Amino acid sequence: MAIANETEIRIKDDIYWIGGDDRTAGLFEGSFPIPEGVSYNSYVITDEKTCLLDTCDASILSKFWKNFRHVMDGRELDYFVINHMEPDHGAAIIQVLDAYPNVTVVGNSKTFDMLDNFYQIKPANRLEVKEGDELCLGKHTLKFYFAVMVHWPEVMFTYDMKDRILFSADAFGTFKTLSGALYADEVDFDRDYLSEARRYYANIVGKYGSKVQSIFGKLEGVQIDMVCPLHGPIWRGEQIGYIMEKYITWSLYEPEEKGVVIAYTSMYGNTAAVADKLALLLKSKGVEKVTMYDVTRTHPSYVVGDAFRFSNIVLAAPTYNNNLHPTMSAVIEDMEIMTVQNRKYSLIGNGSWAPQSPKIMEDRMSSLKGMTKVGETFVIKSSMRPEQMADLERLADDIVGSMN
Ligand code: FEO
Repeated sequence: MAIANETEIRIKDDIYWIGGDDRTAGLFEGSFPIPEGVSYNSYVITDEKTCLLDTCDASILSKFWKNFRHVMDGRELDYFVINHMEPDHGAAIIQVLDAYPNVTVVGNSKTFDMLDNFYQIKPANRLEVKEGDELCLGKHTLKFYFAVMVHWPEVMFTYDMKDRILFSADAFGTFKTLSGALYADEVDFDRDYLSEARRYYANIVGKYGSKVQSIFGKLEGVQIDMVCPLHGPIWRGEQIGYIMEKYITWSLYEPEEKGVVIAYTSMYGNTAAVADKLALLLKSKGVEKVTMYDVTRTHPSYVVGDAFRFSNIVLAAPTYNNNLHPTMSAVIEDMEIMTVQNRKYSLIGNGSWAPQSPKIMEDRMSSLKGMTKVGETFVIKSSMRPEQMADLERLADDIVGSMN
């Protein structure tokens, strides 16, 4: 998105978005597929003192500078607030310091440690803030709230007390480009963005639910009219309550809704056939929401996203080398790392001569916090026999029963 008209990027009288979309990256953090791209958002306040909040990823550097220079219109930069040091927001840090040698860098002690570690920079002009400190720019006063481990230790939120805008670092962000829509109320978020917002949360922030709860505690009573994340659309008005509710649900590890995610691995189609039969049974018994993932070709982040969404998880996998098939092992590992919890789970195992996958899956799933196994593990030896249909139907009934 190359922007030339400042009215298009002004989000308040003297506050601007200066980000850009990236549709070129295959993986986010070298891990997560982003087939719908991602945006990197930075912001500028042009008060009596000027202030830049964060920079951008290397992929949109030229867009960042085009927007930034346009908004600055030749003015000096007085303050450079760094809310988050992950390099997808740091590609222009050195350039900003070179272009504005008198700028004061604003961060906390961990910010400055990371500046040194990543870029070997010790800014001459620095303002090391503490929790709750304020910085006056003229009409605007910024207040700093530390958001430790949401999702890095140096993360802080910056709150503009005049316009009641929360610059929220990665929190409330999402995968997927803006494609011209700066605000969440300009898109059908539920239909077009929520699944990517959830996948982003579950896989980037998911394991830090208690830290998210902690920042909600700090912000209690703070009037917020706009939330400006580093990725994805800006939140304003009633939409703020929508995304906050999602974050409360996700951070408490509560399911958003009743439904079943079925993740299966299949080498020759026999395990997949059982998963398909179970899905048909669940739908025929009235389960409205059923999603299925072939994890031999689907990244675990999608399964983890739906594990945060739904009440029930079904895993189906064959034994492999007297162990669990590695693609399913990777899915469970991601659930372990992101601390998926408080779900009901059911298992389908396969093993031609020594089925190990059922026991391994159960050992690992039962070690996750608050997990309840539903039904007997359905085990096939190579392929499902017709006489096993009653057992599969019983498993479907148990799953349906657990959702009531
Ligand atoms: Fe978007 Fe944690 O960086």
